[in-house]
Amino acid sequence: MRPFIVAIDGPAGAGKSTVSKLLARRLGFALVDTGAIYRCVALMARREGIASDDDAKLGELLSRIHIHFQVVGEDNHVFLDGQDVSSEIRTPEISMGASQVSSRPVVRSGLLALQRRLAMEAEKGAILEGRDIGTVVFPDADAKFFLEASPEVRARRRFEELFQKGVESSLEQVLSDQTQRDRDDSARAVAPLKAAEDAVRLDSSSLPLSEVVHEMENEIQRRLARR
Ligand code: DC
Repeated sequence: MRPFIVAIDGPAGAGKSTVSKLLARRLGFALVDTGAIYRCVALMARREGIASDDDAKLGELLSRIHIHFQVVGEDNHVFLDGQDVSSEIRTPEISMGASQVSSRPVVRSGLLALQRRLAMEAEKGAILEGRDIGTVVFPDADAKFFLEASPEVRARRRFEELFQKGVESSLEQVLSDQTQRDRDDSARAVAPLKAAEDAVRLDSSSLPLSEVVHEMENEIQRRLARR
């Protein structure tokens, strides 16, 4: 039987990373942070001086990309060509770059096989967090969630996350970058951010994330039992 696939989609800062990590730990599932994969593409492009709209060079870059995830302590770390780039991909500059490269169809289609392979390698199950997991990457996922929160709540969470990581920014800057990215992610022609019709929608603005995790876990356990 193939691994149990959980799709968790939603905008930046809705709490996807936190709930995905907790769920993966509780269920013993692998965790695939697809945003980190787009960020790695942006990082490689930047290191190699490739413009975010140079489809030919981006396509060639994708043929050389080697990514794996590994839990280190409490966190899911991402390795690019064996190098731990988990912190390096979280800067505001790489966030913008990731949003830009993710609008290129050549990048989206080029990453489909990698995302699917990373999930299918899991033993029991895999949690994939992203923007188009339930709609494009795994339209037949075993459980789909769409996690939302108000723009203010999301910006504050992102700001605190950056602060904890020692990245200097201001709440105003985070909110304005986020508004720009939300607009780009939702307006792009290929795989725009939108909930799958069969996704369970959850709003984490007023619910504590622990409660969100609880609801999701119940839903997953119900579906696991029906398998
Ligand atoms: O979740 P994140 O902030 O790390 O994602 C970085 C960028 O990648 C974000 O601008 C949207 C894009 N992305 C995407 O287009 N599709 C995904 N499945 C995941 C991320």
